[in-house]
Amino acid sequence: MSARHFLSLMDCTPQELDALIRRGIELKELRERGVLFEPLKNRILGMIFEKASTRTRLSFEAGMIQLGGQAIFLSPRDSQLGRGEPLGDTAIVMSRMLDAVMIRTFSHSTLTEFAAHSQVPVINGLSDDLHPCQVLADMQTFLEHRGSITGKTMAWIGDGNNMCNTYIEAAIQFDFHLHIACPTGYGPKASLLAQAGNRVKIFTDPNAAVAGAHLISTDVWTSMGQEDEVQARLALFRPYQVNQALLDRAEKDVLFMHCLPAHRGEEISEDLLDDPRSVAWDQAENRLHAQKALLEFLVKPALGS
Ligand code: CP
Ligand code: NVA
Repeated sequence: MSARHFLSLMDCTPQELDALIRRGIELKELRERGVLFEPLKNRILGMIFEKASTRTRLSFEAGMIQLGGQAIFLSPRDSQLGRGEPLGDTAIVMSRMLDAVMIRTFSHSTLTEFAAHSQVPVINGLSDDLHPCQVLADMQTFLEHRGSITGKTMAWIGDGNNMCNTYIEAAIQFDFHLHIACPTGYGPKASLLAQAGNRVKIFTDPNAAVAGAHLISTDVWTSMGQEDEVQARLALFRPYQVNQALLDRAEKDVLFMHCLPAHRGEEISEDLLDDPRSVAWDQAENRLHAQKALLEFLVKPALGS
């Protein structure tokens, strides 16, 4: 039987996603109570990072250790991947030694190609197209603070990047309305928009997009891999900064999320992360809990454990 992968939120049913975020909350409570819970004893997660990371590496590595297992970090700089060993060959070898593999990469096709050759679950730790682990944690965070997001309205402001694409998938799977305000030419993937139908609306004016919003989120204007475009993007995205005045135009109980890292003074005002409406630190912490739920769901425990 081929392994179950998590390359996108669409790899799970809405029921499975709901169960994962509720399980994330339970695992968080277990940890807060200091309960030892080690279902993945002797299990090993391989992690390939082609891009930098703080939260993703920490949360997967700490999560595996807390679940009783271990994680091994690889990068193209110090593995044969960087010297041209074919990805499919690497996938076969890694899946013979490990119990799951997490990959942070540029092209999304790296994930699909690796998964096609892997006998063990492959998890998307961010690609140029999608960041499903982050949005899983974000959905857990919304549930904790406000209850179900179904039927609510979210506004995405800024770049139509991997986070924005993933929120379109979340709008489909969790059934909420999504308003997206991006500069012309910097919108999300057209194929995802077509799939989402009329639950997603595109705006160019951020003020119009946040009207009625229960959740507002943004991200850096220049994602990893786009460093050559920094100057052009700084000028173009300036009207898309999220600040207190923009939050004031949304619903009274609006929450603000940012996947981090943030560039204060660019996509957010200097002090927005300190605003009581911001839940960015909870989001970051929930990477740990939501991914532990995901690992528990995907990785087979060792026999006898
Ligand atoms: N949000 C997120 O994925 O952070 P890192 O890039 O630090 O992993
Ligand atoms: N959009 C950002 C997210 C970082 C977590 C990037 O891809 O660099």
